[in-house]
Amino acid sequence: MQVVKYMFQPHGDERGQLVALEEYKDIPFEIKRVYYLYDTMNGVVRGKHAHKKLEQILVCIHGSCKIKLDNGFETKVVPLEKPYEGLYISSEMWREMYDFSSDAVLMVFASELYDENDYIRDYEEFLEMVRQKAQ
Ligand code: TYD
Repeated sequence: MQVVKYMFQPHGDERGQLVALEEYKDIPFEIKRVYYLYDTMNGVVRGKHAHKKLEQILVCIHGSCKIKLDNGFETKVVPLEKPYEGLYISSEMWREMYDFSSDAVLMVFASELYDENDYIRDYEEFLEMVRQKAQ
């Protein structure tokens, strides 16, 4: 499985850092939605789902967390700990977010509006779908 990480270019000067993200340029899709997670409780695992269509870029803009990616055949764990790095998550990828530092803010750029019908929340169903498509 290929992990696609984006290194964004900070505009740093003596005043500090600034990262700008534009759709189709820094983010490889039209940004239809942005959301962020913060005050995540210790020991919590979030996500635990895949999407049929949605693509996302995750940026831990403060603190750190880990992302486990699972394409149904292999898994990879990706730490996110810099505000200038983004993790691309394609559709049909099971994801779990965990090990959030208490100060973590995880920002997500999404290619679609929120749609509960796009979620696959059952892991067995996910496995069946990706394995069937691979045949
Ligand atoms: P949830 O899907 O449980 O988050 P995660 O999978 O990242 O752990 O979402 C938590 C709540 O927020 C749930 O009630 C749905 C709502 N929500 C929205 O209203 N819009 C959104 O864009 C997202 C991602 C969630």
